[in-house]
Amino acid sequence: MSSSTYLAQGPRVAVRRLCLQDHEQLLPLHRESVEMYRSWMPGAPITTYEAFRDYLKRFDEPGHEGFVFCLRGTGAVVGRVNINNIVRGTHQCGTLGYASYASTTGRGYMTEGLGLIMGLAFGELGLHRLEANIQPHNTPSLNLVKRLGFRREGYSPAFQYINGAWRDHERWAITAEMAEDT
Ligand SMILES: CC(C)(COP(=O)(O)OP(=O)(O)OC[C@H]1O[C@@H](n2cnc3c(N)ncnc32)[C@H](O)[C@@H]1OP(=O)(O)O)[C@@H](O)C(=O)NCCC(=O)NCCS
Repeated sequence: MSSSTYLAQGPRVAVRRLCLQDHEQLLPLHRESVEMYRSWMPGAPITTYEAFRDYLKRFDEPGHEGFVFCLRGTGAVVGRVNINNIVRGTHQCGTLGYASYASTTGRGYMTEGLGLIMGLAFGELGLHRLEANIQPHNTPSLNLVKRLGFRREGYSPAFQYINGAWRDHERWAITAEMAEDT
């Protein structure tokens, strides 16, 4: 993948859009992360080419944007984020879904990558607000949004069906103005 496809770059991580060719890197990364995702992510990780191809169709819709975080040196994918359910008009809001992988987590790549995504979201994508819904015991995810300046706005009981039950979530969010101040 050419570095000219990068939309933004930090010291270690670059951001580009998710594409079909990513199945070569992502399917093994998803397989190694099945246990890591079980309690926190809805649905089973995508581990087949057909499921990945079907999943990509959601990004043909204007309300969903999919990105991967790559190491600048090698281009290796180390994380991913979606901006889902984008509402335009007087909201200009999107909901984040993100994950690292068993072999890439705990190194600061997600903090750097999501910081770049915030720049894109509040810049060329024209959004005003990003939300993240996080289970109260998902400490790595809570740490991530706190580091990036998100604010806890509320608590949503039985918010999403994950791993066999409806799970409570905390709602965290950041606006363009808050991001400017951090
Ligand atoms: C949530 C999730 C994306 C967080 O990823 P992460 O790897 O912890 O985030 P980062 O890549 O920014 O790494 C940050 C951690 O690396 C540590 N770190 C190690 N070396 C570092 C370095 N060189 N630079 C910065 N941080 C470094 C930081 O101290 C931090 O750890 P801490 O939170 O214990 O303080 C990840 O845990 C995950 O994918 N979980 C499963 C899916 C999930 O829960 N998704 C979100 C649903 S709401």
